[in-house]
Amino acid sequence: MTTVSGTSASPAWTVPLLRRYKAGDDAPPLVMVTAYDAPSARFAVDAGVDVILVGDSVGTTMLGYDSTVPVTLDEIIHHTRAVRRGAPTAHILADLPFLTYQVSDEQAIASAGRLLKDGGADAVKLEGGTSLAGRVNAIARAGIPVCGHIGLTPQTAGLLGGFKVQGQEFVSARALIDDAVAIDHAGAYMLVVEVVPSALATIIAGRVSIPVIGIGAGAGCDGQVLVMHDLLGIEDRHAARFVKRYADLASQMRDGFREFAADVRSGTYPQSEHGYKMKSSVLAELRDSLEHDPT
Ligand code: KIV
Repeated sequence: MTTVSGTSASPAWTVPLLRRYKAGDDAPPLVMVTAYDAPSARFAVDAGVDVILVGDSVGTTMLGYDSTVPVTLDEIIHHTRAVRRGAPTAHILADLPFLTYQVSDEQAIASAGRLLKDGGADAVKLEGGTSLAGRVNAIARAGIPVCGHIGLTPQTAGLLGGFKVQGQEFVSARALIDDAVAIDHAGAYMLVVEVVPSALATIIAGRVSIPVIGIGAGAGCDGQVLVMHDLLGIEDRHAARFVKRYADLASQMRDGFREFAADVRSGTYPQSEHGYKMKSSVLAELRDSLEHDPT
């Protein structure tokens, strides 16, 4: 499939276009980033990003939680609405938070439906492999485009023994291939594969019909996703091996706040050009009226 990757001038990606997309000789890898608010969504679209993910990473990047587990459906909806306002024509994928889809098909369809109806998302993403394939199928049959997410699944990182590379042994690597195929056959239109050996991700991308978007999964995928705070250096406390920083916004933000504070304290800010004028006649009248005001 030879559709040219999105630019600010190209039309937004549709689900059928994405579902068929496999990177290749004349099909560059898809570009996905997370965004959680209107301005960053607008900047991502201006920069030619193909897909915006309102990830439940919003919990750790924006909301100060220790993990993605506490994130609620209402929080994702709130941020998805902001992203939609900032990027009206973008393809927006929104995460189903922990325990908003695991309980039953009915719960999953209702939660996914709210992300589309109330949040304005185009599609939803959930974490899990073969054991969640039935759930993926139920959501897809309800008419909701759904993306899978396998490998390191942050919502259940505790079960995986922490934030570790997945699929390094034969049995776990085979299981991940089976997971990918099950999610594909269940009707997902896209699959995120997180922190697995590059060679395994390349095999997975070759075994499924849908695009595989890697994060810490090497160059053999059909696309790449990074968390905005990692790639822009807003999160500067730690970075996984797979993160490449393209900016150092944390330093720039600290410098900006520091300079503002120094300017305010020294009287350097504001200057007259930052203020608003009133007619001298109005000012004179005001002063005069105050002189004759007994209070
Ligand atoms: O929540 C998120 O940001 C994600 C990415 C890590 C793929 O799921």
